[in-house]
Amino acid sequence: MEFVDVLKSRRSIRAFAPTPVSREQVERLLGKALESPSWSNTQPYKVALAMGPELEQLRQELSGRFARASALQKASLPKKIVGALRGGVMPDGDFKPILKYPKDLQPRRVATGIGLYSVLGIARDDHAARDAQMARNFSFFDAPVVMFVFVHDGLGAYSALDAGIFIQSLMLAATDEGLGSCAQGALALWRSPVEARFAIDKSYKLLCGLSLGYPLDQPVNRFKPERRTVAEILLPSHGTN
Ligand SMILES: Cc1cc2nc3c(=O)[nH]c(=O)nc-3n(C[C@H](O)[C@H](O)[C@H](O)COP(=O)(O)O)c2cc1C
Repeated sequence: MEFVDVLKSRRSIRAFAPTPVSREQVERLLGKALESPSWSNTQPYKVALAMGPELEQLRQELSGRFARASALQKASLPKKIVGALRGGVMPDGDFKPILKYPKDLQPRRVATGIGLYSVLGIARDDHAARDAQMARNFSFFDAPVVMFVFVHDGLGAYSALDAGIFIQSLMLAATDEGLGSCAQGALALWRSPVEARFAIDKSYKLLCGLSLGYPLDQPVNRFKPERRTVAEILLPSHGTN
């Protein structure tokens, strides 16, 4: 594919086909993504790659946690306390989840949510259907491959910057090979299920997940949220005098 076509055709995929992807292909994609630049070439990221039975275990564990956490959210205060004390429900991710968006960013977030739910045929006030769609994150949208990206905590925001570049390279390399992907902040909510299955140094923090596989031909996979214009992101200059 032409580079610009790869760039323009990549979309977040939220419905994957069961078609398997070989570990060899995933490792080839990771190798391509390792061409990415990074701060002093430190490449401050590690990837937990799950496929097959390991992925199934994580799917069950994370889906269960999400189901228990959302039930708890709707429960009475005493039940909330008991549930929280029981453990395994409260997020134990390394970074705080964003509960309130900055005012100036919120409209784009809302517009994207409305667009996505409308493509999925979910009414705005249908909370059960919205919950079910959110839950799909934790079954990795049925993808046969999932990755959890960890970043070194010694570089602060710069390791997240490097990981972001790495993830984009990975997603573009996947698109170029006919695969689809979805970066998922939702998969950073719980660290312990991933840590139970992979040897992770404490200095590496869970930043983001990524599902990978062949996209199904469904409207949700063609949803393209609106982008800002170049004029909108360019800062006005104070002028030379
Ligand atoms: C860091 C990051 C985290 C994201 N987290 C999620 C997520 O948890 N669930 C989800 O469905 N999409 C997630 N997305 C996908 C975005 O919603 C998507 O990139 C955005 O709406 C633009 O759409 P596009 O990727 O199709 O161009 C994430 C994307 C990024 C880059």
